[in-house]
Amino acid sequence: MLEPLSGFSLFNTTNSPIVNHSELASAKILVIDDRPLSRMTVVDLLQLEGYEVLESDGEPQVLESVINTQPDLVLLDVMLGEIDGFALCQKIKQDIRTQDIPIVLMTVGDCREYRLKVTQAGADELLTKPIDRLELSKRVKTLITQKQLNEGLNQTEQVLFTIAKVLEESRSSERGGSGVRGVCLVKAFGEYLRLTPEAINNLVFAAHLHDIGTIAIPDAVMLKKGELTPDETEVVRQHVLIGENICRPLRNRKEVLPIIRHHHEKWDGTGYPDGLSGEQIPYLAQIFQIIDIYDALTSDRPHKQAYSPEEALAIIAEETQKGWRNPQLVAEFTKFIEILVKNK
Ligand SMILES: [Fe+2]
Repeated sequence: MLEPLSGFSLFNTTNSPIVNHSELASAKILVIDDRPLSRMTVVDLLQLEGYEVLESDGEPQVLESVINTQPDLVLLDVMLGEIDGFALCQKIKQDIRTQDIPIVLMTVGDCREYRLKVTQAGADELLTKPIDRLELSKRVKTLITQKQLNEGLNQTEQVLFTIAKVLEESRSSERGGSGVRGVCLVKAFGEYLRLTPEAINNLVFAAHLHDIGTIAIPDAVMLKKGELTPDETEVVRQHVLIGENICRPLRNRKEVLPIIRHHHEKWDGTGYPDGLSGEQIPYLAQIFQIIDIYDALTSDRPHKQAYSPEEALAIIAEETQKGWRNPQLVAEFTKFIEILVKNK
């Protein structure tokens, strides 16, 4: 149990019921806001998600308290009376003891000037008040998952994950799919299939790194709106081989490489890069592929709304009829999604 620190109004709120028992539930979040009502709103929402929540009204010693309590995430209001939230954010990010803590800034308005300041202050996200519960939940979950993952990575892995994240952020709005949601899905489906923790971990790595090879493909091709020419298609197909090469230095993750290389093979042998068919396709690559497709289909894109889970499953079923996917695995995946949707 954390004790209140001197000069810092810190209240441990772990007595509230914990709803979510995932790894995230043990995460500790510090909410810094000098307006009690506004602070309580955010605290309540986070408590409902099952987080351990600490509060501060932004007193002068707040930086020391961040250092001492080492939260997994800080939610910081930018208008803190005497303290400038942007400056505080910058200090937290510049201190070696706190620089890895993700920070979400909260503002009343959202304008270009704010966006610029958020970037300059080194914050990870910006949320505008009144805080939307779903938006808050999504951002917090993403940042904490990312932080927990980074803590378990070695230096090479961290560099690769950072490159993959930047790449995804710069292109995902055009191409659909969402890193963290894909990661959550592979974990959940892996558990549903009773895979070993090692296999699930390899799937998680693949969820982050499978398209890292697209870094070598020009934006003009990757983001092209119309149909690709045969030459362009060939260029795009190279991403699986480039990705495999980029990830080769992951010494302890050799099992991730076949997932990256073979995530575009098809059950009937018409996929790439090797035209493998049936059980020749590594099992984890088969699993990952189905999730990747489902994730892309159910994500929003600029010119297309996300398909519903039912529509996405129907499209995957159609592709299975054509012979592209493992029918048994698709049947398992369909059951899994139906359970997820029912329990939503
Ligand atoms: Fe791919």
